[in-house]
Amino acid sequence: MTAPGYPGARPRRLRRSPALRRMVSSVRLRPADLVLPMFVKEGVDQPIPISSMPGVVQHSRTSLRRAAVEAVEAGVGGLILFGVPTEKDARGSAADDPDGIVQLALADLVGEVGGDIVVMTDLCLDEYTDHGHCGLLTDAGEVDNDATLARYASIAVAQARAGAEVVAPSGMMDGQVGAIRAALDADGYPDLPILAYSAKYASAFYGPFRDAAQCAPQFGDRAGYQQDPARSVGEALREVALDLAEGADAVMVKPALAYLDVLRAVADAVDVPVAAYQVSGEYAMVEAAAAAGWIDRERAITETLTAISRAGADIILTYWAVEVARGLAAGR
Ligand code: PBG
Repeated sequence: MTAPGYPGARPRRLRRSPALRRMVSSVRLRPADLVLPMFVKEGVDQPIPISSMPGVVQHSRTSLRRAAVEAVEAGVGGLILFGVPTEKDARGSAADDPDGIVQLALADLVGEVGGDIVVMTDLCLDEYTDHGHCGLLTDAGEVDNDATLARYASIAVAQARAGAEVVAPSGMMDGQVGAIRAALDADGYPDLPILAYSAKYASAFYGPFRDAAQCAPQFGDRAGYQQDPARSVGEALREVALDLAEGADAVMVKPALAYLDVLRAVADAVDVPVAAYQVSGEYAMVEAAAAAGWIDRERAITETLTAISRAGADIILTYWAVEVARGLAAGR
């Protein structure tokens, strides 16, 4: 029997057994490619569940260390830390306070797991400002780009002094990578890498994160600084090119699943490592549908991560990092 039209062409031949499919598959996730985002909350002695992200918690300093050790044991490649302070103010003072929660927890992590996993920090202001925006505000209530750069520079130095092994600026201010690079170099950290959130979109998929980090904007939204999903891929390439020119060592696309076209274009355009952030809303969608019995949870997780990898991500930030790394190690 021959297939109608194209004698001999039968793509299904290589799909007929699990062993054949395994042999010919080309997208392979590795535990070391995964990065686990972690939240640490000031003033708590027990982890606090995040209702919109079942399975994810706001850690205490103690539970954070324990969870970091589990990530190392699973072979996860990196951690990225977000701090949730008790006191917030207009300038986000806790962000660069050497005794602020993020600096203390960072030093804990470096002491506990440094060298075994890459300890990174998100570098932004929204978790630390009382208004919830990623920068300082003008009197008119607009985010002041250039005044914010000075704050980011100071936060970078505070994080470096606390032991950060990579800093990851996520605020989408113009010139942020250059300002941070200059500050790190001047303070004696010329070798500290910057993973830039270069193409970051104003996304509904950050919703659950804003519960996790307690950082929803108190007025307005972030569309004045994060990218518009309706712009062309070329704008993302421009953001990436600017960040590289300013000294970024690796770049990120965020969110992941709704921006695979952007991810592919960035991966084709640059030779630095490209990261993709599978964000809180992407996590919550799968968890919610699985909890309702509407999709197969494990298969959906694997399929989304495979798609992100296939689109060109070298590094994937995902709240499932530990579970997926364990599964990969067990050959699943
Ligand atoms: C900003 C920041 C955000 C996320 C990571 N860094 C929130 C935002 O831009 O509103 C979102 C991550 C997620 O949704 O999982 N500091």
